[in-house]
Amino acid sequence: MSKIEDLENINKKLENTSTTEVVAYFLDNFKNVALSSSLAAEDQVLTDILLKKNKNASIFTLDTGRLHPETYDVMDATNLKYGIKIDVFFPNNENVQNLYHTQGINGHFESIENRKNCCNIRKIEPLIRALKDVEVWITGLRASQSVTRTNMPLVEWDENFQVIKVNPLINWSEEEVWEYIKSNRVPYNKLHDRGFPSIGCAPCTRAIKDGEDIRAGRWWWENPEHKECGLHKK
Ligand code: ADX
Ligand code: SF4
Repeated sequence: MSKIEDLENINKKLENTSTTEVVAYFLDNFKNVALSSSLAAEDQVLTDILLKKNKNASIFTLDTGRLHPETYDVMDATNLKYGIKIDVFFPNNENVQNLYHTQGINGHFESIENRKNCCNIRKIEPLIRALKDVEVWITGLRASQSVTRTNMPLVEWDENFQVIKVNPLINWSEEEVWEYIKSNRVPYNKLHDRGFPSIGCAPCTRAIKDGEDIRAGRWWWENPEHKECGLHKK
């Protein structure tokens, strides 16, 4: 049976299973399982679920060097609460220096190409390093976050990063995320109280207004169909 068929079977098997059981299934059946966390609410829910199942579960974040101070605050609060140290992957320093020399510090506003160069250097290359020995990559993606995410399954083979990708919250609503955070007293990023539904880099993320799409604050100057940085594209 091919890997893809195996994953289709796992998808069917886990279709009506609780999120906690989905996470437990991967932690129990695979050796190298890691959650990537942007320190947004969804990732905080998964951090809590993973660490309740295994206090040594692997969690990493990509520190692009352009994060909000509030994001570092919640990283610190999370490390303290759970007695852990979230792994941090930084971009390669020479790449960042070259990027600065070629397009300046905020060149990502000038063209999609510049923006993608910046995301490649600050997010994608570190992600490749973070996933090097990982068999199962857990993310906090939700289908209702974006038009680009509506058809994402619970479990899939990620061709770009050659890893099994699991999206345990894929069918969760935003309300369910917040219900979990409140009832489990999970530390959360204070930017969420200021109208940021989604947490990214400081220059490329802003608060949204009532009624706006929840991804409207990310790369707001670009068209919705292009608003992925390469972490989650097909
Ligand atoms: S992004 O591609 O637009 O930046 P988004 O912020 O919606 O992604 O987050 C979706 C998921 O991608 C998160 O739940 C998390 O698993 C992963 N992710 C995004 N940003 C980071 C980051 N800086 N570090 C680690 N994982 C991240
Ligand atoms: Fe650069 Fe903005 Fe991408 Fe962050 S989100 S890596 S600052 S272009």
